[in-house]
Amino acid sequence: MELMDSTGRKIDYLRISLIDRCNLRCSYCMPPQGVDLFGHDKVMTYEELAVVVKGVSELGISSIRLTGGEPLIRKGLIPFVKLISSMEGINDISLTTNGVMLEEMAKSLKNAGVNRLNISLDTLKREKYKKITGKDCLDLVLKGIDKSIELGFEPIKINTVLLKDENVDEILDFVHMTLQKPIHIRFIEMMPLGKSTDNWKHSYIPWTYPLEVIKEKYEVEGVHGPTGKGPAKYFKLPNSKGTFGVISAVSEHFCANCNRLRLTSDGKLKTCLFGKGEVDLRKVIQTGTVQDVKRAIVEAVKNKPLGHDINSDTTTHRSMWQIGG
Ligand code: GTP
Ligand code: 5AD
Ligand code: SF4
Repeated sequence: MELMDSTGRKIDYLRISLIDRCNLRCSYCMPPQGVDLFGHDKVMTYEELAVVVKGVSELGISSIRLTGGEPLIRKGLIPFVKLISSMEGINDISLTTNGVMLEEMAKSLKNAGVNRLNISLDTLKREKYKKITGKDCLDLVLKGIDKSIELGFEPIKINTVLLKDENVDEILDFVHMTLQKPIHIRFIEMMPLGKSTDNWKHSYIPWTYPLEVIKEKYEVEGVHGPTGKGPAKYFKLPNSKGTFGVISAVSEHFCANCNRLRLTSDGKLKTCLFGKGEVDLRKVIQTGTVQDVKRAIVEAVKNKPLGHDINSDTTTHRSMWQIGG
């Protein structure tokens, strides 16, 4: 079975936000205090999530990405990964993490069935890392990246949100990492969601900027990206082990190729990152059968918006940590 929206976009990828909590407080994402977190009773249980994964696998979804907040802080993660990786039809399990707990957890994640990792890292400087995230964890994240390389996760993508006054001076430092390490750096345009909505224009850097900086110094070659059906365009330096890419989330939409659905940690199915539209899938699970859950998903996909209009009144009020990116 194939899940298809009304315009023929094939949907084969579900991103599940496991938790809205996070052990960091990135300045553009989560306020340092006064965060209005979901209570524990609002968060989908693993049993409910297993019903969703089983249902979507029967609808032709084969890729699952686990996100947060920070997914590695949710207890019981490893048995859950083992469970879904044993389900028929699920052949790709990936995870987006800030990397703080990766060194200690990478091995169990790999053994449980996670094959791809995306790791957030906005700076390579210790003091700046503290300033951006609120914690002195740069070393831990770098160790987590090296451990993941050693264990053979493939691909390993690094998410670097470009912030005008914070990290544009480090573009070449990030790209130099790809000479030695088999990693894929992605420079991401800041998106106006949640906390970043107020000041995003001030911090925003378009995707063309890092390319200009890199091309001033190097011959750059466009390449097919590493596996994953995501939004980035990729390039590489001659003789590099890894690649670098750009995610033009704001300036150039990739909606026409969108292959994904999202489930928030409080059980709402979203067919677009930016859209307001949500289906209360948890309610369907609690009151209906697996068939009802599948029907609700098929119906939602039929209504998947063609594209988004950031900053219009059709835009979600949720923050990135409440959606999972
Ligand atoms: P893979 O292709 O599976 O590797 O995933 P990804 O690169 O999309 O995932 P990741 O969680 O690492 O997200 C990287 C950045 O892309 C984040 O800033 C996301 O918010 C953004 N992103 C992911 N999907 C979409 C999308 O559908 N639309 C937009 N505008 N941004 C997205
Ligand atoms: N714009 C762009 N990327 C963001 N992220 C969090 N908030 C934003 C935003 N407003 C990134 C994180 C993480 C990924 C899931 O999304 O840095 O790497
Ligand atoms: Fe946490 Fe990711 Fe938000 Fe940073 S961007 S505060 S790591 S959820």
